[in-house]
Amino acid sequence: QVAAASGHTVVLVDQSDEILKKSTKGIEESLKRVTKKKFADKPEAGAEFIEKTLKNLSTSTDAVAVVHSTDLVIEAIVENQAIKNELFKRLDKFAPEHTIFASNTSSLQITQLANSTTRQDRFGGLHFFNPVPMMKLVEVIKTPMTSQKTFESLVDFSKAVGKSPVSCKDTPGFIVNRLLVPYMMEAVRLFERGDASKEDIDVAMKLGAGYPMGPFELLDYVGLDTSKYIIDGWHSLEPNNPLFAPSPLLNKLVEEKKLGKKTGEGFYKYK
Ligand code: 3HC
Repeated sequence: QVAAASGHTVVLVDQSDEILKKSTKGIEESLKRVTKKKFADKPEAGAEFIEKTLKNLSTSTDAVAVVHSTDLVIEAIVENQAIKNELFKRLDKFAPEHTIFASNTSSLQITQLANSTTRQDRFGGLHFFNPVPMMKLVEVIKTPMTSQKTFESLVDFSKAVGKSPVSCKDTPGFIVNRLLVPYMMEAVRLFERGDASKEDIDVAMKLGAGYPMGPFELLDYVGLDTSKYIIDGWHSLEPNNPLFAPSPLLNKLVEEKKLGKKTGEGFYKYK
């Protein structure tokens, strides 16, 4: 959405037409929200902006078929190393020589992903934040193999889509998640111990620390499955780090398919 809105030609690839239809509808709705504010007193310019953006966007279920004409691939599939590696390995065979590969992974090592391809120098991390149309940050990750030219292209791309890039080494969680995820897990543990209710913890962090959402609201917003993938991955890397300890309550909710806002229930219920 943000790439198309800033004039780039984008092909959105997903597993089925049904998912793509849902994604396109989500983008249309989000564009309406953005436009309402951006073109508050110029509705015609707003309608034109939406039309232009959607014109820049097409969809496909066949990544291999579209990769031959791309300059940049941004992968944002399930947070699973083996599945991501498999995709990158396949795309590497069909992508042009100059094409840069980037992963939006929240927690996996970019180096490990780059190693599934033959273009380690043209591989980096581009980590966006939910909701992407609103959050201004992008973390640009450079591995020891990423070339300076690739890194600069990723920084330039981030600026071209209207974001503010920061740079970080290929370290678990980069900057934001390395701080945010342990904080959210500590909130769950506070609640699990019965020290405070989840509602009071959320109110406390909003009114006491000025956060726009409390940790339970944010967990539901990000998705409990995503949060669990992240913490489980880090726990396997550092089993003795108490900040990375799994939570029985989070595990139970994920097992019950209560994944947060997207499924209608997580820590809270949504209508
Ligand atoms: N698309 C377009 N516009 C959107 C939007 C979307 N998806 N979501 C919200 N907005 C807009 C609304 O239209 C609204 O615009 P307005 O000011 O013109 O009315 C504005 O954002 C504010 O929205 P709301 O009034 O509905 O609610 P809030 O004031 O609470 O703002 C929020 C919503 C921007 C999501 C804010 O609550 C927030 O910043 N929350 C924290 C988000 C956060 O921490 N994200 C990082 C998560 S971690 C992550 O993503 C990393 C990953 O690896 C796990």
